[in-house]
Amino acid sequence: NDLALGTYEHYMLKEIEEQPAVMRNILAHYVNEDDEVVVDDEIVEAFSKADRVYIIACGTSWNAGLVGKTIIETLAGIPTEVHLASEFGYNTPLLSEKPFFIYLSQSGETADSRQVLVKTNKLGYPALTVTNVAGSTLSREANYTMLLHAGPEIAVASTKAYTAQIAVLSILASVTGKNKGIEVAQNFDVKQELSLVANNMDSLLTDENKFPSLVHNLLAETRNAFYIGRGTDYSVSLEASLKLKEISYIQCEGFASGELKHGTIALIEEGTPVIALITADHTNLQTRSNIQEVKSRGAKTCIISMEDVAQEGDDVVLPHVHPLYTALVSVLPTQLIAYYATLERGLDVDKPRNLAKSVTVE
Ligand code: G6P
Repeated sequence: NDLALGTYEHYMLKEIEEQPAVMRNILAHYVNEDDEVVVDDEIVEAFSKADRVYIIACGTSWNAGLVGKTIIETLAGIPTEVHLASEFGYNTPLLSEKPFFIYLSQSGETADSRQVLVKTNKLGYPALTVTNVAGSTLSREANYTMLLHAGPEIAVASTKAYTAQIAVLSILASVTGKNKGIEVAQNFDVKQELSLVANNMDSLLTDENKFPSLVHNLLAETRNAFYIGRGTDYSVSLEASLKLKEISYIQCEGFASGELKHGTIALIEEGTPVIALITADHTNLQTRSNIQEVKSRGAKTCIISMEDVAQEGDDVVLPHVHPLYTALVSVLPTQLIAYYATLERGLDVDKPRNLAKSVTVE
């Protein structure tokens, strides 16, 4: 039974640990009997015609959209913008000639996103809802739906929906890119790469018992913390810091590591925790030099790096996955960090104060 806690104390940990199975389940749903990854023809056709993609979302879904943007631009070759629903509705940007809207929403019920959908429907623009809930409002009201197949997500802090959203967007982007004859997409084997992600998520999760002490040393008693990274690592830093804020109430910011020196570094004092994400070769040395800058100002640092670029002494080493999929593994340790920081503080992991799983008011 999907809703049973089983041996788990909290839904959040259960849902974190379900992520490898979710990746496999997504593949199972998007692979046909000929073993090909497929997306509804109508969706691919409409998506292929777009001159620009607008992803509309809130919260964790918005953060997943940021990672999705890079994947869509790389594999499908369509310029993509990611907008907060609550901003887009009231400060609508100048739109392209042939926009295609993607509503990313775990619940499919978020009012902020729905009010944008109502507007774009009136304007007659094609809309795809990517959601975990079949028959949800956003799904019913959009032209097209792609399901996340992540199983019910109960913990208020979203975990498996984030990785599922990235995976499903990558399937759409890859099938569309192949269809358009884009070389990068033709060389990208979704099945193989997502299976590798699932296996490597499994191996990361077997190392889970190191996190309570890592978290204790890094975050005990702190009031604030930072995540830093460049590129996709920056996008994941935003999600990582949202997760930590939501449930542990530690004030945490995700920063583009190159931007620290333009202001934020003023906040670094003796003992300030700074967690760096490093998964790409082309940003490795720059981010490491940013870590040195904060370290020399007293920061307590933690480095989460991918094995290809790992150095002796890095705190968490992530197994190698395709460069487009690094977020799918790098986010896992940050989810565990949020979880254990919250446990250590004796707070309610699954039901943080002031938050709701799905927000149906604007
Ligand atoms: C609420 C939840 C967040 C979630 C956001 C968007 O604020 O607390 O965890 O990311 O809504 O929800 P959606 O269902 O649209 O993805």
